[in-house]
Amino acid sequence: MAYRITVNGESHEVAAAPETPLLYVLRNDLGLNGPKFGCGLGQCGACSALVDGELTRTCSIALQDVGGAPIVTLEGLGTLHKPHPLQKAFVDEQAAQCGYCSNGMIMAAKALLDRNPKPSDEEIKDALADQLCRCGTHNRVVSAVRRAAMESAR
Ligand code: FES
Repeated sequence: MAYRITVNGESHEVAAAPETPLLYVLRNDLGLNGPKFGCGLGQCGACSALVDGELTRTCSIALQDVGGAPIVTLEGLGTLHKPHPLQKAFVDEQAAQCGYCSNGMIMAAKALLDRNPKPSDEEIKDALADQLCRCGTHNRVVSAVRRAAMESAR
């Protein structure tokens, strides 16, 4: 079946089975490699994107359930030359080791800062608690989100 979805402000028509996970469409059909395939079971958060402004595990939402909701992926936040404050802060704080979780961390932080521009450290930790990282960069991730919040407030 053909579906029309809006990703990072652009409309796309994609042909796929209704139950196809949105993650597969983003990566395989649209070539967006920000969202990562981690567990494929909705447990790790590596595949996270914003769907209608809500943090969403794209491995666990079917294409047929997206409807006309706008989708924002990591690629929709900023560019290499004009990074989003979160992307810049993650680089400045060296908040990645292998980097596989970074997409989910940044998208979860984006969802947090959209609803709470000045979060406390506890609120940052709460918002990121379900984004799994096996390397152990958690303290740097919290520092990056704190820095991005401060930069955005200027
Ligand atoms: Fe989607 Fe792990 S890949 S939650």
